[in-house]
Amino acid sequence: QRHLISAADLSRDDAVLILDTAEEMARVADRPIKKLPTLRGRTVVNLFFEDSTRTRISFEAAEKRLSADVINFTAKGSSVSKGESLKDTAQTLEAMGVDAVVIRHGASGAPYRLANSGWIDAAVINAGDGTHQHPTQALLDAFTMRRRLVGRDAGLGQDLSGRRVTVVGDVLHSRVARSNVDLLHTLGAEVTLVAPPTLLPVGVESWPCEVSYDLDVTLPKSDAVMMLRVQRERMNAAFFPTEREYSRRYGLDSDRMARMPEHALVMHPGPMVRGMEITAQVADSERCTAVEQVTNGVSIRMAVLYLLLGGNETALTARTTEEK
Ligand code: CP
Repeated sequence: QRHLISAADLSRDDAVLILDTAEEMARVADRPIKKLPTLRGRTVVNLFFEDSTRTRISFEAAEKRLSADVINFTAKGSSVSKGESLKDTAQTLEAMGVDAVVIRHGASGAPYRLANSGWIDAAVINAGDGTHQHPTQALLDAFTMRRRLVGRDAGLGQDLSGRRVTVVGDVLHSRVARSNVDLLHTLGAEVTLVAPPTLLPVGVESWPCEVSYDLDVTLPKSDAVMMLRVQRERMNAAFFPTEREYSRRYGLDSDRMARMPEHALVMHPGPMVRGMEITAQVADSERCTAVEQVTNGVSIRMAVLYLLLGGNETALTARTTEEK
């Protein structure tokens, strides 16, 4: 593949190759000099039309660890405010010699349009589009689950067959939920969505997962519980249930966490709204992998860039072995 637009585009073998390559990349981060020469002479632009902390910075870290030249573009402060279109912005950047574009955009489908319109030749990586997809988030979540539930070495070549993952909260607005349902299904996991009926999308019955309205029943059967942020910025004024009711029924506090099996993980893609979907005690507990997910995001993004910009498994093994 030349682009990464949707987690649904990945086969089981594609996904396992990315997870295994990310394990190799994680070894680079463990070394005193955290760099590979792999993308020397290649240029990557981070094209962010929406705010981001984790995704933008971890893509930049990944690009720099692979020795790429990095251009950071944020819509705020650019000629987008003067009415310049996505097409003209992308072509302006490509005219400066860009090999890959990492794009976050508020409009679902913007990365697909960029990749398939013929506007530019560069590889396109979706860093989150509207309520649609966030494939590298799903990959870093799967990487975190595989490491914790299967093992770092034991996990190589493995998928998540038979693991039970519960995704809780504002599914309606969540590209993280959509990407995770697609990827976890491909990797053999059983996914249950738990949400108030008002925060589930039309057509969710056709997704490859179960749906429940009762978190307390689902928690004891979970190997990982992924809490979603309530995306107030994407809602109109009619937010139902109320914040208090939402926290009471769908928030994860210490009492609820105690219902989970001892080995089960608490996950959150960030940013967390403490006191809403997760209490501070749970967010700061040993079982919460939110910070570990951020670390793993750098390895996953290195793997994706490496594989899309011309790497292959054999070359990666040779290069990392040579540099050990
Ligand atoms: N998880 C995630 O996408 O976070 P950011 O919005 O900070 O990139």
